[in-house]
Amino acid sequence: MTQPSDTYTQNAASAADKPADGVSASPRLSGPRYISISNQKGGVGKTTTAVNLATALAAVGKQVLLVDLDPQGNASTGLGIDRADRDRGSYELLFGETTADEAAAATKVPGLYCIPSSMHLSGAEIELIDADNREFRLRDGLAAATRRYDYVIFDCPPALNLLTLNALAASDGVLVPLQCEFYALEGLSHLVNTIERVRDAFNDKLELLGIVLTMYDKRNNLSNQVADNVREFFGDKVYDTVIPRNVRISEAPSFGLPAIVYDMSCSGSQAYIHLAREMLKREKALRDAALKSMAEAEGVPA
Ligand SMILES: Nc1ncnc2c1ncn2[C@@H]1O[C@H](COP(=O)(O)OP(=O)(O)OP(=O)(O)O)[C@@H](O)[C@H]1O
Ligand SMILES: [Mg+2]
Repeated sequence: MTQPSDTYTQNAASAADKPADGVSASPRLSGPRYISISNQKGGVGKTTTAVNLATALAAVGKQVLLVDLDPQGNASTGLGIDRADRDRGSYELLFGETTADEAAAATKVPGLYCIPSSMHLSGAEIELIDADNREFRLRDGLAAATRRYDYVIFDCPPALNLLTLNALAASDGVLVPLQCEFYALEGLSHLVNTIERVRDAFNDKLELLGIVLTMYDKRNNLSNQVADNVREFFGDKVYDTVIPRNVRISEAPSFGLPAIVYDMSCSGSQAYIHLAREMLKREKALRDAALKSMAEAEGVPA
């Protein structure tokens, strides 16, 4: 496998070094955690990760909202929301034509709601260019939600466009699915730079939460090399959990079901359940650290 470009290595290394500053921005201690699932590369497992992570979080009793920001609408389809029921969705929320409460549809998974991608979303990118407050429309629309969510998860489109910027400006953290294949690392430096730019310009709490390796095939040397390379550069930003390539995962959306509901025992579903557990553990560690530093700042023993 060729070495990643210098720019990639530098940015990757600097991102891996970041925990001391940007990455460890104090988590908010109340209200939902907002998480973008983003990678501008197409077909790397963003939607699969968004749908199954959201389902796994709901399964452990969290109230979860998945916001479909991709005009392809794959997350909405994967959650079984009919096209006919998508007239109030993320487009309408972005343009003030609906509220977060009205747009959030219940899904077959108890505790999991979805703001679908309506057919108008494909025009949003152009319409947003001249809109007021164009990077903050999603954040502001969601802030008015009255349902108490624990997690709000954004399924981003495969582009670093204004829809993705709206998600990043509204998020506490970014989870990056990375497919274990030859071109996996291409463009990662761009994503890392974008996260840093958004943090500087729009949202100082934004952090790179972690990278999750997807479609891993342990029999494939390349998969192993990619995994090793990514861990070398991003260190503990890479989740221990790896999502294997698994045919049951790719079958599930055609039944309008998350893989975890379609076949909970398959290796892919089990991996997503693990990932949710690992994420919750990391979140707890972040929250505990923030509480401790607040207590120290106030001179109170934690
Ligand atoms: N672990 C897996 N094993 C097998 N197939 C998978 C796995 N993860 C995702 N897929 C399949 O790979 C394809 C791409 O996955 P997905 O739609 O989640 O990627 P994406 O990054 O959201 O794509 P896009 O950039 O187009 O939005 C889908 O057909 C999906 O079912
Ligand atoms: Mg997708």
